[in-house]
Amino acid sequence: MWILESQRSAYVLGVFPEGGLQHLWWGPRLTDPSDYPTPGAHPEHQAGGINAGFVPEEYPAWGGMRFTNPCLKLTYADGGRDLPLGYRDHRITGDALAVALADPYEPYGLSVTLHYQIVWAHDLVVRWAEITNGGTAPLDLEVALSAAWNLPPDRYALWHLHGQWGAETQIEQQVLAVSATVTLESRRGQTSHVANPFFALGAAGRVEEEQGRVWFGALAWSGNWRIAVQSTPAWTQITGGISDFDFRWRLAPGESFHTPPFVGGYANDGLGGASRRLHRYQREEVLPSSGRWQPVLYNSWEATTFHVTPEEQMVLAKRAAALGVELFVVDDGWFGTRDNSHRGLGDWFPSPTKFPQGLGPLIAGVQDLGMDFGLWVEPEMVNPDSDLYRAHPDWILHFPHRTPSQHRNQWVLNFARDDVRAYILEILDGLLTQNPIAFIKWDHNRPFSEPGWPDAPAIHQREVWVRHVLGVYEILDRLRALHPGVIFETCAGGGGRVDLGILARTDQAWASDNTDPFDRLRIQEGFTAAYAPRAMVSWVTRSPTWAHGRHVSLDFRFHVSMAGTLGIGDDIRNWSPEEMRRAAELVALYKEIRPLVQGGDLYRIRSPREGSETALCYVAEDRSAAVVFVYQHHTGPLHPARSIVSVRIPGLDPSAHYRVSAERVRLFGGASLHDRPVSGSALAEVGLCVEGLDADYASAIVQLHRI
Ligand code: GLA
Repeated sequence: MWILESQRSAYVLGVFPEGGLQHLWWGPRLTDPSDYPTPGAHPEHQAGGINAGFVPEEYPAWGGMRFTNPCLKLTYADGGRDLPLGYRDHRITGDALAVALADPYEPYGLSVTLHYQIVWAHDLVVRWAEITNGGTAPLDLEVALSAAWNLPPDRYALWHLHGQWGAETQIEQQVLAVSATVTLESRRGQTSHVANPFFALGAAGRVEEEQGRVWFGALAWSGNWRIAVQSTPAWTQITGGISDFDFRWRLAPGESFHTPPFVGGYANDGLGGASRRLHRYQREEVLPSSGRWQPVLYNSWEATTFHVTPEEQMVLAKRAAALGVELFVVDDGWFGTRDNSHRGLGDWFPSPTKFPQGLGPLIAGVQDLGMDFGLWVEPEMVNPDSDLYRAHPDWILHFPHRTPSQHRNQWVLNFARDDVRAYILEILDGLLTQNPIAFIKWDHNRPFSEPGWPDAPAIHQREVWVRHVLGVYEILDRLRALHPGVIFETCAGGGGRVDLGILARTDQAWASDNTDPFDRLRIQEGFTAAYAPRAMVSWVTRSPTWAHGRHVSLDFRFHVSMAGTLGIGDDIRNWSPEEMRRAAELVALYKEIRPLVQGGDLYRIRSPREGSETALCYVAEDRSAAVVFVYQHHTGPLHPARSIVSVRIPGLDPSAHYRVSAERVRLFGGASLHDRPVSGSALAEVGLCVEGLDADYASAIVQLHRI
């Protein structure tokens, strides 16, 4: 029996009397370790007889009397498919446990090592499995998930993220029906806009933003994935990993298959507590550390679309520099014959007509203005009308005798192929070596279709789903090693590829092509349910946006984007002197509060899904400072209080006193706080009244500093 304790939680497993690995406990850490459940056939688990079918196993392999979702299913060379895994041995290294299980029929030589890494400070366990063929014949994996998570019986609600292009990461909640399975998944080759590999569960009706027991998890995988939540009267089980849809993996003798990590955690302080644990973990252990805050960027996509010229980019760059922007990014349209979405994808050299002297003069101009230079690429794609496709028509995903479907006039390159990866690495490495480029936005604008790999032996062809993702990871890892200073942004037609796998190799993510600030509040709420605000890039664009007719003030637009990594994406050639002046002030304010937004703990005080206001607060890890964002979506009827939003501020040190930066802020029912310090406990219990929000889309930022 192993007890994996973290600061406030515990995860316990043991060897079942029959030899398998039994799950025993996941939840709060108990005072007396002898109180944790012990291995055995407990009646509450319905371990045998006619009710067989559910034993809370750590990694259920298909075989015997098992009827729930397996983590592992395979076929041996002799056609055998039954897999009774038994404990073999284990190893403890620091905060990591590895338990090896094996098929008792030794000639098969099959072993599975389950890895557990405790993240002590954040109550997380990172799990993955390593499946090894130590036999003499090949075998085929048909299901190979990362982990099963087991929860004690209860009536649970599930929180997850659904969406679509332009409306990613929308929080959805549903109460789980007993005996039903809820499946969250992507079969699109990418993480997807439609669902995201994150879950949170808590007892229905008893979980709130800052209260209640929550079990949560996130999968580190950027291709097809599946998370299934199955409730029975006896137990609730979550299985997850690479999707088994159209999956088959030939494992030759001596080979191993590593599943992606699946991070799980337990929080006793509600959904907000779950998010904050994931955020801290990402800041400390997942996101690559550049040793500095994410820069304020300008991206010229919405201003110039495909019509990129060095002259116009320089006009934009001068305006951006005047605003205090730190990174100037040229998006799509700089390469090959890319004048529209029909041409040029794949030809990653500067357009000879637009950049006859290469990128050098523009980069030098941008650097002279004191900014870094960044570039957009979409390396996994080709247009049919490109030199790359004409030279290598066999490099795209396709099936024999079929014309693959186009989407956005493009096809997907097969990154499972060694020649494709070698070519792309050489091209991108060359681009970064020949030019002082500080930032790459790596886009992926379409899902897979017709995922054929006809040149591979038939038995290996379905591996393309997985090998493509591993290929993308490999290239990102190698580029990062070759060019350690470069910042990478993940993008997939907006937020179609945001997950812990890609975020381990990219510094930030483009959350959505929809930059309407009101829509964005909801997208950002869902994004931050699972992912750190530092990773969330948000541009200020025009009002109204292309998405809606809403007229929204410049301040509101900035305040929404300042809740993540700030970017500007509007055509700033059109901004009036007054807009330029105000925007520069707001960029300067962002730089002041950036350590809190990018490095602090997020408390979602009021959700944009409820009522007419949203409020957020970021608190420094040492609670020395905080910044509060208040957004009024629409004012109420003509009541004297309609322009006042009152919010209670969690997360502060109750016994410390804080100075409040903004004017027009009072303690609820009290006097102005201008020049009058107030205790953390009063801020948490009585709350602030932010005044003057007397129009639709009015907003305010309030800073708090401990004295
Ligand atoms: C995608 C991205 C946008 C932009 C365009 C360029 O849609 O999400 O931000 O880069 O591609 O074609």
